[in-house]
Amino acid sequence: MSANHSTELKENVYKDCLKRIQGLLDQENDQIAGLANVSAVLKGAFQWWWVGFYLVKHNELVLGPFQGPVACTRIAHGKGICGAAWAENQSIVVKDVQDFPGHIACSTESNSEIVVPVRNNGEVVAVLDADSQYFSCFDETDRLFLEKICATLENLF
Ligand code: SME
Repeated sequence: MSANHSTELKENVYKDCLKRIQGLLDQENDQIAGLANVSAVLKGAFQWWWVGFYLVKHNELVLGPFQGPVACTRIAHGKGICGAAWAENQSIVVKDVQDFPGHIACSTESNSEIVVPVRNNGEVVAVLDADSQYFSCFDETDRLFLEKICATLENLF
């Protein structure tokens, strides 16, 4: 499969996810219900090792709804990839987690990761985190579409 072909396939899967997520959020505005179903849609579509949310609470990130194995429950501002994405208010794509200084290894199975902020009025209120067992799993297509998905979540906060 060529790189372009696989990018197109991935875009189509994301477009389907976006439609499903918009449909779910149109029917339900409870935060936990919404974030839980977004995690489930993404896990079902991509079979990543772990995908879910950390929520900003009292100046730290606290584990929210997710799909996957048990994870770290609290992450300080600026710590790990999640804390860095929060502090920098921007998405971070990591091709090999060992190359990211201060990466927090909730699982030794995770080799690549993407973290995307969820914002309300421009302020980070949560982060979406996805981990893969494969190196270089995430790229600009993932960043673009996960940012679109996170932009639809603003009303839950
Ligand atoms: N690896 C993350 C911690 C969260 S887990 O991957 C679910 C980090 O470095 O912030």
